[in-house]
Amino acid sequence: MTMKVCVIGAGAAGLAVARHLASNPELFDFVVWEKSDTIGGQWNYTEDVSSKDGVHSSLYSNMTTNIPKEVMGFPGYPFHTEGSSFIHHTEVQNYLINFVDHFSLKKYINFGYKVCEVKPIKDELSDAVKWNVSVMKIGCKTVETDQYDNVIICNGRYTNPYIPDILGMETFKGDIIHSHYYRKNVSYVDKNVVCLGRGPSGLDISLEIGQVAKKVFISHNKSNLESPLPDNICQITGITRMNENSITFNDGQTFQVDSVVLCTGYMFDFAFLHKDCKIKIQENRVTPLFKHFINIEHPSLAFLGVPFTVCPFPFYDTQAKYYIKYLEGKADLPSKEEMYADEAKDFSVRLESGLPVRHAHFMSTRQWGYHDDIYQLGSMSGTAVSKVLRLLYDYIHQTRVKDLANYKKLSYVVEGDTFKLKN
Ligand SMILES: NC(=O)c1ccc[n+]([C@@H]2O[C@H](COP(=O)([O-])OP(=O)(O)OC[C@H]3O[C@@H](n4cnc5c(N)ncnc54)[C@H](OP(=O)(O)O)[C@@H]3O)[C@@H](O)[C@H]2O)c1
Ligand SMILES: *[C@@H]1O[C@H](CO)[C@@H](O)[C@H](O)[C@H]1NC(C)=O
Ligand SMILES: *[C@@H]1O[C@H](CO)[C@@H](O)[C@H](O)[C@H]1NC(C)=O
Ligand SMILES: *[C@@H]1O[C@H](CO)[C@@H](O)[C@H](O)[C@H]1NC(C)=O
Ligand SMILES: *[C@@H]1O[C@H](CO)[C@@H](O)[C@H](O)[C@H]1NC(C)=O
Ligand SMILES: *[C@@H]1O[C@H](CO)[C@@H](O)[C@H](O)[C@H]1NC(C)=O
Repeated sequence: MTMKVCVIGAGAAGLAVARHLASNPELFDFVVWEKSDTIGGQWNYTEDVSSKDGVHSSLYSNMTTNIPKEVMGFPGYPFHTEGSSFIHHTEVQNYLINFVDHFSLKKYINFGYKVCEVKPIKDELSDAVKWNVSVMKIGCKTVETDQYDNVIICNGRYTNPYIPDILGMETFKGDIIHSHYYRKNVSYVDKNVVCLGRGPSGLDISLEIGQVAKKVFISHNKSNLESPLPDNICQITGITRMNENSITFNDGQTFQVDSVVLCTGYMFDFAFLHKDCKIKIQENRVTPLFKHFINIEHPSLAFLGVPFTVCPFPFYDTQAKYYIKYLEGKADLPSKEEMYADEAKDFSVRLESGLPVRHAHFMSTRQWGYHDDIYQLGSMSGTAVSKVLRLLYDYIHQTRVKDLANYKKLSYVVEGDTFKLKN
């Protein structure tokens, strides 16, 4: 008997799933639904940001990776070793296109389809839960529906911008965009600019804009970064209020400002999930999920890539590999009670260590333990990220915060159990 599986999204996470599903064609009969007409999700750079349904990527024109390519690849399918460690986004998209060719995945992908609804229904014969998934071809009105045994959601987490509610924002006369809409620095020549938020986007974009702007303020509520910055870029506290032509910051200072880029991150968006899926999002926490990805109420529905601040491709691979092993009946899930207890424990440890609810899926250094846990749960051998690659990733994290403007100038080679600087 075959198992019918629906994968939503042909970005890096969806492709990781497709690779493993395709390796067992006797068991899996699967399709991938993809909204755009290309492979790669976020990695398909779109110059145009005017699409009504926001189907554009969050990449900017000159975006390069902030993780060395040596650690970025899927297990068993590394990036090429030539050139710089930090690569332009087009190289990542090419890597994904080659990945699809290598594993012959294109035939499974239906391009240009938007998923409208995912709803659990009872199968009349077996009484098991089936998934009623309806999709719509972009540009057409007709809805197509099919039933599946499993649904794996890989729709990405960087398409629904988080816009903070800032006092006086509507009175501000300058331009305000979210980083999701930022592409180039040309419109910031000689301007005074505020980039709000010091996540990866805030840091990258403030440096780009700093090349041409008069002054850039990186406004954030966190402790100041220790890195040296160009003379016209400074860090400042969060925003208290916006005025017509100026902004007042939490430390009481007010500066004249022409433009604001909200680098404030993204919110999860699973609008197509029917309420019977029993998934809730509270302060950007998705629950109930076992190990941040398997729906505890309906384990035949899984979500890849919910955790953030991870080395993404190997992370998706670990989740995909385990989940598919579970579908194959070669790995067990704990009982529902145990899964709830595990989720509750993970969450309470986070709250006790001072993290806010919105960081329920924040990984960073926790990601290595996560890989190990999942490999152990699934009795899988090896790991998606070897020890030397973990060391390199952690090392880059240190060089990045020490010298934001220059850390990408160095490249690395991995030899056996060590890495070293590339000449
Ligand atoms: N070169 C690259 O490879 C590159 C570049 C850009 C992005 N990325 C990827 O894209 C992902 C998203 O990055 P992102 O920077 O867009 O989002 P992000 O990592 O979620 O960062 C958003 C930041 O804005 C802060 N923030 C939100 N609202 C705020 C407010 N009202 N006042 C002050 N601060 C506020 C957040 O604070 P809290 O943390 O306290 O919530 C957070 O630090 C990253 O995980 C990264 O993997 C990669
Ligand atoms: C990105 O996606 C758009 C819309 O699907 C497509 O038209 C465009 O050709 C893609 N860009 C690249 C570089 O593949
Ligand atoms: C960098 O961005 C500029 C526009 O700001 C563009 O002309 C140039 O081609 C980009 N370079 C790369 C390597 O993407
Ligand atoms: C499945 O979804 C379609 C489209 O929304 C709907 O018409 C149909 O009734 C659904 N089937 C079941 C069994 O709920
Ligand atoms: C910013 O603008 C300058 C001047 O036009 C250009 O040389 C540079 O490539 C741009 N940088 C980016 C990152 O787009
Ligand atoms: C940053 O501080 C401002 C003002 O106190 C507050 O409104 C905003 O919610 C804070 N942002 C975050 C992400 O904590």
